[in-house]
Amino acid sequence: MKDGSGATILVVEDEDGIRDLLAESLSALGYRTVTAASAEAALGILETTPPDLILTDVHMGAMSGIELTARVKRDPRFQLTPVVILTAVSDLDARVAGLSAGADDFFAKPFDLLELRTRVAALLRVKSLVDQLESAESVLTALGATIEARDPYTAGHCERLARYTVALAGALGANGPVLRALRFGGFLHDLGKIAVPDGILLKPGPLDPAERERIKRHPVVGADLIRGMRSLDEVRPIIRHHHERWDGSGYPDGLKGEAIPLGARIMAVVDVYDALHTERPYKRPLPHAEAVSILKRETDAGAWDPRITPAFIEVLRGLEHDAVRKGKA
Ligand SMILES: [Fe+2]
Repeated sequence: MKDGSGATILVVEDEDGIRDLLAESLSALGYRTVTAASAEAALGILETTPPDLILTDVHMGAMSGIELTARVKRDPRFQLTPVVILTAVSDLDARVAGLSAGADDFFAKPFDLLELRTRVAALLRVKSLVDQLESAESVLTALGATIEARDPYTAGHCERLARYTVALAGALGANGPVLRALRFGGFLHDLGKIAVPDGILLKPGPLDPAERERIKRHPVVGADLIRGMRSLDEVRPIIRHHHERWDGSGYPDGLKGEAIPLGARIMAVVDVYDALHTERPYKRPLPHAEAVSILKRETDAGAWDPRITPAFIEVLRGLEHDAVRKGKA
């Protein structure tokens, strides 16, 4: 019976007999196989035919399978590609080294074909889920950038928001999931603007009350659009609440203080600064110092989290410092 996934498996093995046996067995299961007789040859193949899984021997020529695994896992293009190391059960050193190099699994020599089939199928299932997740997220991120592109006045806004919010969250000691959510939030916070017609979004003059209400729905529309995408669960509150205010005067839910999710409070402060500091259809860009003083005034008046604003001003100072330093280098 064929597994028939059509996935490509790279077999790296210097012994001809074992390499042929593995390739034949995997082909019989419906996989496409590519073979390499050395780790160096495998690295070359990765550049032209990126596989869905790598099966590698340990002891080969100049470069070992462990070193190959470490290189694959260090490369952002391949770090999610599962690597299975072929090694004798008794070779504990190879197993320990393989684990620290980032191997996903081990496969014992001599082979049991049923075991090989089960392990390969399990790893490929995970790989395919990861691929789907990645493409869904990149579609949404591209969508966020498309929305931004409709409005020439907000060019680079999403990118800057992602960068500033992640730096600010790091300075505030936020954990990994919050940082990841903010990176996506930078691109997706205004996703709901997809439902706002150009006539309103790009209107140069003041908006009438009905138009204003239409725009104010974008956080709810955006959060609803990604409902059901579990990988974006942490991003949804940022989208829904990025226009809430610390004193409860924001929208859509009028949340107050710490009831507003931390990621959304961070996004709000950065979003306001960026809006002040860049040109919009109805206003000139304000210089940094003026934007900061408005942000401070609004924070004193209760609009923004009083711990976040000063931390953000510090982060901006650091980023500016870095930019100057890089400019001189
Ligand atoms: Fe917004």
